[in-house]
Amino acid sequence: MLDKIHSLLSEIDRVTASNADELEALRIKYLSKKGIISVLMDDFRNVAPEQKREVGMKLNELKQKAQEKMQSLKDQFESNKGKNAEIDLTRTAYPVSLGTRHPISIVKEEICDIFKRLGFSIAEGPEVEDDWHVFSSLNFAEDHPARDMQDTFFIQSNPDIVLRTHTSSVQTRVMEKTQPPIRIICPGRVYRNEAISYRAHCFFHQVEALYVDKDVSFADLKQALLFFAKEMFGADTKIRLRPSYFPFTEPSAEMDISCNLCGGEGCPFCKYTGWVEILGCGMVDPNVLDNCGIDSKIYTGYALGMGIERITNLKYQVKDLRMFSENDVRFLEQFQAAH
Ligand code: DAH
Repeated sequence: MLDKIHSLLSEIDRVTASNADELEALRIKYLSKKGIISVLMDDFRNVAPEQKREVGMKLNELKQKAQEKMQSLKDQFESNKGKNAEIDLTRTAYPVSLGTRHPISIVKEEICDIFKRLGFSIAEGPEVEDDWHVFSSLNFAEDHPARDMQDTFFIQSNPDIVLRTHTSSVQTRVMEKTQPPIRIICPGRVYRNEAISYRAHCFFHQVEALYVDKDVSFADLKQALLFFAKEMFGADTKIRLRPSYFPFTEPSAEMDISCNLCGGEGCPFCKYTGWVEILGCGMVDPNVLDNCGIDSKIYTGYALGMGIERITNLKYQVKDLRMFSENDVRFLEQFQAAH
C-alpha cells in the first residue's frame, strides 16, 4: 500500500489540466467518493496495525496533496480567465501614428478651396497629352521654344505625344466639351525637361483657373486675384500686375504679391523689392476660344495659372524644391499641424 501511495504522490505532482473539464475529471479520479484515494481510505482498515501509523500519515499526505493540487490548478484557470477577460483583441498592438498630408496637397487644397468659394469647380485631365491640347489649341506658334525638346518631354516614337508642360491643357479639354458659362480650376502635375536642382525639378504641380462667360472682363480677373491673394496670404496682402506674354492670353500679366515676410519693406527673400511673383494670368485669347468651338464674338474669359511648389515655398519657406519629392518623413512630419 505504501508503494501505491508513493507512486500516486509523484503522479499527482505531475498531473496538469488545461481546462475546467480536465480538472473535474482529475477530481473525480482522485478525490470523489469512488475515487482512488477514497478506495485507499477504505482499504486502510486492512492495513496491519503496526503499519497503520505510517500508512495513515502517508495517506493523509496524499489526500492533502491531491486537494492542494486541484486547488492550485483551479486557481490557475481562474487567474487566467481574469487575464483573458482583460485582453482586448480589437486593440492594435502598439499605437499607430497618423501620417501627415503632403505640403503640396495641403496647399493645393487650400488654393482649390478659395476658388471653390468663388464658384469654381475642379476639372482634371491626362498628364500624357497630345500636342494639340498642350500647345496648338493654346495658340503656341510652331517655333515656340516650349516645343523644343530641351524644354518638353516628347515621346520619341511619336512626337505628337508629350508630357503636359502645364495644366492649361485641361482648359482646352473642358472648352471642347462644354459651352459657357465655364468656371473651373485644374490642379495637377506637370513635366518639364529641366536639370534638377534646389530650384527646378523635372516635374512640379500647378493650379490653373478658367472663367468663360458673356461679359467677363479684366476687372473680374483682378477682383478674383485680389480675393485669392488676401485669402491665401492674409488680409493685408497687396497685389501688383505687370504686363507679360503668354500665347493663350491677350492681354497677359504676371501677378506679384507684397512680400509676406517683410510686408513690402524689402528683405533678402524679395530681393529688397517688396514684391514676389506668384502667377501668370490674362484674358483668354479669342483664338483659343475659337479653337475649342466657343464663339469669341459672344464670350470672353480670363485664365490664370500658378505653381503649387512656389506658393508652398512662400507659405512655409522650403528652401530646396527637391525635398517635396524625396519622401523624407522628417521633412513631411513637420506639416503635421499645418492643416
Ligand atoms: N500655363 C502657364 C505656365 O505654365 C501659366 C499660366 C499663365 C496659365 C497665364 C494661365 C495664364 O492660364 O492665363 O507657365
